[in-house]
Amino acid sequence: MELKSLTIRNFKALQSVQLKNIPPFMVVVGANGTGKSTLFDVFGFLRDALTGNVRQALDARGRFAEVVTRGHEAESIMLELQVKLQIADRPRLVTYHLEIGIEQGRPVILLEFLRYKRGAHGAPFYFLKFERGSGFAIRNEEDFNKPDEDLEREEQQLESPDILAIKGLGQFQRFPAASALRQLLENWHVSDFHISAARGRKEATGITEHLSESGENLPRVAQHLYENHQGIFRQILQRMEERVPGIKGVEPQLTDDGYLILRFRDGTFKTPFLDRYVSDGTIKMFAYLVLLHDPKPHPLLCIEEPENQLYPTLMGELAEEFRDYSQRGGQVMVSTHSPDLLNAIRLEEVYWLVKNNGLTEIRRAQDDAQVRKYMEDGDKMGQLWKQGFFTGANPA
Ligand SMILES: Nc1ncnc2c1ncn2[C@@H]1O[C@H](COP(=O)(O)OP(=O)(O)OP(=O)(O)O)[C@@H](O)[C@H]1O
Ligand SMILES: [Mg+2]
Repeated sequence: MELKSLTIRNFKALQSVQLKNIPPFMVVVGANGTGKSTLFDVFGFLRDALTGNVRQALDARGRFAEVVTRGHEAESIMLELQVKLQIADRPRLVTYHLEIGIEQGRPVILLEFLRYKRGAHGAPFYFLKFERGSGFAIRNEEDFNKPDEDLEREEQQLESPDILAIKGLGQFQRFPAASALRQLLENWHVSDFHISAARGRKEATGITEHLSESGENLPRVAQHLYENHQGIFRQILQRMEERVPGIKGVEPQLTDDGYLILRFRDGTFKTPFLDRYVSDGTIKMFAYLVLLHDPKPHPLLCIEEPENQLYPTLMGELAEEFRDYSQRGGQVMVSTHSPDLLNAIRLEEVYWLVKNNGLTEIRRAQDDAQVRKYMEDGDKMGQLWKQGFFTGANPA
């Protein structure tokens, strides 16, 4: 598990939200428009800001005025994460803080820092701290136990005040904390899977290691597993057979003109079906299996409403697969409207969103005495939700 807590201020409907002790696998429910997608978009936003810059990340979401919470336009957008990073040979809990505002009509990073608490009482130790494009980073971070005056501070000026310092400095070996954070954020995966993008023949060359956000490289990733991870591929096929009646195999096939297609074998018929002609749910289940059996899990995986297109009784197994993935080291966050999925989720994994006067609050099932009691008595999350025990979750 990598992400421990998250504090959000003025990011769309999330005016003031804090998530603490985030579990390895987390499931969020909430009425339409309460901010589930927005919560996941915080991760997408950070990643976009890192791959491009803050202006681009804002522009993609309708610019600052659209992203900042309505009625709080004069304030800054603030995102703060607590993540576990490998620093000086040990995993340490560090805080990454980012504050974005508008100055002379341009988005500016007002404050960005990466900080580590040296102990319950020691002064916090800053790996880097930047304001409006200038600041410092520490070079001898393995010496963080030394007094402040012995630390080697390197003053730096970034190219522009909308570039993240962890991007500008993260490429330099001498700033390992910035590099570690940068790598972590870059490898987050916020799934935006489109069945139509996954179908059809694909160029045989391109990214094959991880399923892309839209899933358009599904045939390539499948082929990569088929060729290089046969055990995993066999396991995926076995799950497909168990879950989709008739399916007896999936084969990636390279065409003569250099394209890749997936062929789904049905036990009843001799000729396999091209991926273009198999059902939506078949493609989706296959894509999830490919995503969740990734030999190198993403540090964080966000999936919205995985239940869509899938048969309700498969939700228990799907939940188990998400949990397995999170145990292999990739944290998982899922949003759902499915009581069947929720029935397979544990008390400590469930959060629900409540909207009050346009602003979202987040509640943890574990903190609700009544829900906790029912769960101890053997109830299930989905049932409790449907019976209205998630206070404030149902639309009025
Ligand atoms: N700048 C903003 N300030 C305040 N609220 C905003 C802002 N931008 C968007 N919103 C609100 O946030 C809502 C969008 O929330 P979001 O898409 O995250 O909901 P959701 O929980 O994913 O819903 P669904 O279940 O329908 O997918 C919008 O409907 C709007 O009311
Ligand atoms: Mg949504």
